Amino acid sequence: GAEVVINGSSSPAVVDRSNESIKHNIQPASAKWRHNQTLSLRIRKQILKFLDAEKDISVLKGTLKPGDIIHYIFDRDSTMNVSQNLYDLLPRTSPLKNKHFRTCAIVGNSGVLLNSGCGQEIDTHSFVIRCNLAPVQEYARDVGLKTDLVTMNPSVIQRAFEDLVNATWREKLLQRLHSLNGSILWIPAFMARGGKERVEWVNELILKHRVNVRTAYPSLRLLHAVRGYWLTNKVHIKRPTTGLLMYTLATRFCNQIFLYGFWPFPLDQNQNPVKYHYYDSLKYGYTSQASPHTMPLEFKALKSLHEQGALKLTVGQCD
Ligand code: CTP
Repeated sequence: GAEVVINGSSSPAVVDRSNESIKHNIQPASAKWRHNQTLSLRIRKQILKFLDAEKDISVLKGTLKPGDIIHYIFDRDSTMNVSQNLYDLLPRTSPLKNKHFRTCAIVGNSGVLLNSGCGQEIDTHSFVIRCNLAPVQEYARDVGLKTDLVTMNPSVIQRAFEDLVNATWREKLLQRLHSLNGSILWIPAFMARGGKERVEWVNELILKHRVNVRTAYPSLRLLHAVRGYWLTNKVHIKRPTTGLLMYTLATRFCNQIFLYGFWPFPLDQNQNPVKYHYYDSLKYGYTSQASPHTMPLEFKALKSLHEQGALKLTVGQCD
């Protein structure tokens, strides 16, 4: 079949840290966009050659046992032991087994969501994915409330919950986890050694307080597989962001995919300032050198897929 053109250029990407928003003019919400079913199916098939979301979304109980040694994906020399708690929280079957949804929303964390009024629209989707335990209650009008899957990089525990230094922060995290109410909590536990204790704290909290969440811990091969898929399509990402990981996984079980809160630029299309996250005071520089993400590059690829009808990006207000 014909190739999907995601990135026209074949040269290695150079990260342009200037504001690129002008170049990324996206039509207001519903104007002109049409879903391209044929293309979506072709992308699903291509991605399936690299990974299978149903399997790679989580390591299963049958494949590990307590005491097993795992090498961190980004710190190959560092290892962790599979703890009893982690083992207890591994799912027996994939939380996505045989799942199919008509429409899915993937909600990124860009400040572009503020004053978007997209909450209601987001909540109408059959499956809603959110990133890094981003708060919803206080922002419901713009981001909605429905959450079927939420990711949690271990660094969130440090950044948003003060490393659980005291009872107040532990309680805060516990409340957030309780509010998930049976949804999937997706924890990349095997990526980097820095998250070791934080993952253990969260696991312990969930078990101790019988929190009603379905935990999932992405497979060891997921990251490389996702990167492989995008590299094959000439998108030269270093390490896929959570948002891109979620899109790549979602192609497997979602017919139509809608992205909100993806806007890695400090100015919007009208040159107004945009916060890096809709809910905290992290700044843009944060992603530049220290973090290996190449968000603007990913954005370019997603925008191209938007233009071809494979997904729909909303970067302005919802109707
Ligand atoms: N995102 C975006 N524009 C922003 C902020 C976030 O497009 N200004 C998207 C990215 O795809 C990102 C996702 O929203 O992955 C979730 O945001 P965040 O929690 O910041 O994601 P991480 O990639 O996990 O960031 P980090 O590695 O710093 O934890």
